[in-house]
Amino acid sequence: MMAVWMPFMPEQASTIAEHVDNLYAFLIGITIFFTVTISTCLIYFFVKYRRRSEHQIPKPIAGSLKLELLWTIIPFLIAMGMFVWGASVYFEQYRIPLNASDIYVVGKQWMWKFQHPEGQREINELHIPVGKRIRLTMASEDVIHSFFVPAFRIKQDVVPGPNEYNQMWFEATKPGEYHLFCAEYCGTNHAAMIGTVYVMEPKAYADWLNGGAQDGTLSQKGEKLFTDLGCASCHLADGTGRGPKLVGLYGKQQQLTTGEAVTVDDNYIRASILNPSAQIVAGYQPIMPSFQGQISEEQLMQVLAYVKSLAPAESGAGEQGAPAKDSSARQASRK
Ligand code: CUA
Repeated sequence: MMAVWMPFMPEQASTIAEHVDNLYAFLIGITIFFTVTISTCLIYFFVKYRRRSEHQIPKPIAGSLKLELLWTIIPFLIAMGMFVWGASVYFEQYRIPLNASDIYVVGKQWMWKFQHPEGQREINELHIPVGKRIRLTMASEDVIHSFFVPAFRIKQDVVPGPNEYNQMWFEATKPGEYHLFCAEYCGTNHAAMIGTVYVMEPKAYADWLNGGAQDGTLSQKGEKLFTDLGCASCHLADGTGRGPKLVGLYGKQQQLTTGEAVTVDDNYIRASILNPSAQIVAGYQPIMPSFQGQISEEQLMQVLAYVKSLAPAESGAGEQGAPAKDSSARQASRK
């Protein structure tokens, strides 16, 4: 219905697009209604109650409680309606669903780099299947970028530094090609930091997946890094190493030396690699060096995919265990 209302809006190509547009149309509608009503009254009253002679003095008027209440309560209800509606769309957009396919995104001056769990890598192009929830796990290698696909009505800043991953999700509803923008000024070629999202039918997407990635899946690349960077010499699989074993760890609770418990999720793994001494697992020494500056954001995501792949095979891997399972199932089905 909104396409009729707002002919200048981009196409609606995700599940959330219509919800965003409906809210937007409501806000525009309310704004137009009050602008027109108030300015019409204003002009009408100018004329009707204009001063007609030099000595004319208007009759004094007392306030009206009824009117005061009315124009307090009605705007209050409208504003609260906007708030509740806006909050519900916000939560829909920013609560990352658990059963989603992972895509890893790195923004850098001036390109978008994508990694698929199956191993495919793309620059400024992203191929995804239609009708599937896609979770974007995003990091920046330099400055703040912002991932923006107007047709999906999604935009998320990608902030650099050893902080948490920026995540975003969407589900595309129509096959096609959609513009991808960087929506945060990030230097000289900011305007050229654009790309295309290709939304494909499941069959075409499967064919596309089969076409590339000779150098292994994301978790296989991560496993190689895990060995090359020397992680494997402390994080022994049998748990006798100087670092905690990582098999079956993802999605579990981990007890820290401080007595606190943390859930092993993407952000915990990221923090443990970049700033290992911040959260030490109970029973271990703070001897692990930081890998800040020694591992790129893309490699970090590969190691993350590897640690995820070590999650217990059956469920119980916790909330974020599902995607690892999902992607390994997809890998298996390709073989
Ligand atoms: Cu990246 Cu603007």
